[in-house]
Amino acid sequence: MNQTCNIVELFSGIGSQAKALKNLGYKVNTLGTCEWDLHAFIAYDAIHSSPELPETIARMGKAEILKKLESYTLSNNGKEKMEFKTLRSYSEESIRRIIAAIERNKNYVDVSSLTGDQMPEGVDILTYSFPCQDLSNVGAFHGYNKGIDKNSGSRSSLLWQVGRILQEMRDGGKALPRYLLMENVPTLLAERHKDNFKKWIEDLKGLGYISYYFQLNASNFGLPQNRPRLLMISVFIKDYDEKTIEKIKSFFDKKSSKDIVDEYASSRYYHKIDIKDLLRIDYNNAKYREEAKECTPNDTVSRREIWEENPQLVLKGNVVNPKYDVIRTITTKQDRNPNSGNLYFDSGINGRGKFRYLTPRECFLFMGFTDKDFDNVIKNNPEIHKNIKLFPRDKLIRMAGNSIPVKLLEGIFYQIKLLDEVLEK
Ligand SMILES: C[S@@+](CC[C@H](N)C(=O)[O-])C[C@H]1O[C@@H](n2cnc3c(N)ncnc32)[C@H](O)[C@@H]1O
Repeated sequence: MNQTCNIVELFSGIGSQAKALKNLGYKVNTLGTCEWDLHAFIAYDAIHSSPELPETIARMGKAEILKKLESYTLSNNGKEKMEFKTLRSYSEESIRRIIAAIERNKNYVDVSSLTGDQMPEGVDILTYSFPCQDLSNVGAFHGYNKGIDKNSGSRSSLLWQVGRILQEMRDGGKALPRYLLMENVPTLLAERHKDNFKKWIEDLKGLGYISYYFQLNASNFGLPQNRPRLLMISVFIKDYDEKTIEKIKSFFDKKSSKDIVDEYASSRYYHKIDIKDLLRIDYNNAKYREEAKECTPNDTVSRREIWEENPQLVLKGNVVNPKYDVIRTITTKQDRNPNSGNLYFDSGINGRGKFRYLTPRECFLFMGFTDKDFDNVIKNNPEIHKNIKLFPRDKLIRMAGNSIPVKLLEGIFYQIKLLDEVLEK
């Protein structure tokens, strides 16, 4: 691969994929994204394109934009489609951000209606971090785990849409992406799901891909967050000669997850980040103080339990607790028990507890995004309705919790970089 990397991100979220590739020095050329949650794709736009609206869209009226948006299946919670009348009730400013984000990032929006016909050719890497909700053990315990069973209608079964899209590309005579990258939870390998996963690898084989998967943890890539994940690289080998295919196989065949960690750790992209580097506890900074205050819950019995029962990352006196090297997985909610950890904090507000949970900014940072990325996201935060912001706190935390640790992705993309070097020889 030359230094330009043409990508398509399915289930693109806030674009941890593009971010990681940029960090590895690639000039990322996004040929397409696919995300139906308007909060996530507007944040993507603010991070990867611009927090400012393009001139042409800034001048457009609401009716004109709504007409354009009619053909899309949008969601405002990432779970189900939203009604058009809800969209119609949004402020003009937020409607503008929606259309700007769709157009600027070539967002196909709903993966179920994306066809092979619409897909671009010349894709180096296509990523698909499909929803994981139906793979969780919690779901299995309650007996409502549909897993990724084909046609089950579960959110995780959107995986098969990826196969359909690739198949349609092939049927249409289009060149398939050179590499695919899957990310999900390691539960995919559990008894309940393993046959489906095997079938998926077989389907990919039928399309011309050879696949290798690895269980990796974000904490092994310099990021202080415990987040075990399953990642799979698929290489399109159909167009290669025997000798090249052998090279690819011998590159991966004996490779362990530890090798992936070690190779990245000895690269120039690795650096170790400490918890204290990511906590924003300098309360002389008015912005951080304000953000901290907003994450201070009321002093109730259940909230005190949150403080008592979860890691205390910062102790009284604003001292970072030396007991922790990594924090727990950043999930989609922090004001709950259990959460990723809490910090001693006296907001000075009557009735509030003496602690706070992680701020949305800190959640972004623990996923490997930067202060600038976060500032860009909130730079343009219009009201969708009177007194309701486009990005309330819980939506920001959910976006971070749904994303992929950028450092973990750097680690796995680094393998593609190494393989390309081998193939160029
Ligand atoms: C695990 S998250 C992936 C996040 C992404 N990797 C990132 O960096 O933020 C899965 C994403 O799939 C999106 N999604 C769910 N159903 C979808 C659909 N039908 N079409 C497009 N995106 C969908 C969700 O909104 C969510 O953002």
